[in-house]
Amino acid sequence: MIGKRLLRIAGLLCRGYLPVGFRGMAHWTTALSWHPRVHWGPLCLVEGRVLLSTDQGGSIRLGRKVYLAEEVKIRSYGGIVELSDGVAVNYQTVLLGPGKITIGRGSLLGPHVILAAGNHGYGGEVPIQQQPYTGVGITVEEDVWICANACITDGVTLAKGTVVAAGAVVTKDTEPYSIVGGIPARVIGYRQARPSSGQAAAS
Ligand SMILES: CC(C)(COP(=O)(O)OP(=O)(O)OC[C@H]1O[C@@H](n2cnc3c(N)ncnc32)[C@H](O)[C@@H]1OP(=O)(O)O)[C@@H](O)C(=O)NCCC(=O)NCCS
Repeated sequence: MIGKRLLRIAGLLCRGYLPVGFRGMAHWTTALSWHPRVHWGPLCLVEGRVLLSTDQGGSIRLGRKVYLAEEVKIRSYGGIVELSDGVAVNYQTVLLGPGKITIGRGSLLGPHVILAAGNHGYGGEVPIQQQPYTGVGITVEEDVWICANACITDGVTLAKGTVVAAGAVVTKDTEPYSIVGGIPARVIGYRQARPSSGQAAAS
């Protein structure tokens, strides 16, 4: 008990910057503020029951003003996970290595999104659990919006400005400012072709 408290105090003292708004923050999340493989920049907001796990190695890096809503789970599985400045991740979204995952500046991940940067081997007759689990990586460039319940598979790059519609499974790279939807995801539109909601409201 005393050890845990000391750990937390040490964690708080060791960081130059601390997340603001410890709203519902779980005990152990606070302790992670000093973890050598988990780094976060200033003004991050991490809500309760968030898991940032590097228990199999790798690292997790959160830039400035990153927001992780309740029950977001990030497991590096030995890989690197990097969320750039201003990234927002909504409720119960899951990011899984070991492929490198990078999320570009200002991108928004909706609730229940899965970025699965890893696949189990499944060839031949060897049981799947005995085959290697490997990943190439997923890149989400800046200003991307991934809507609720979408799944992004390993090796995919979501180009700058992409919108992934709710429930999509994205298995291929996207074009800049495209809107993709469906399973497997196909282009269903382009952002430039539609007025922003502000414009629509004004008209
Ligand atoms: C992607 C999205 C924002 C597009 O909205 P929109 O611009 O209003 O799109 P529209 O409703 O005009 O639909 C355009 C076309 O895409 C299709 N489409 C829309 N959403 C789709 C989806 N999730 N999957 C597949 N096709 C979809 C429509 O059927 C329509 O096709 P049509 O032209 O053949 O009729 C919206 O569909 C969506 O997925 N919203 C979810 C938002 C969300 O997850 N919010 C959580 C907070 S982060």
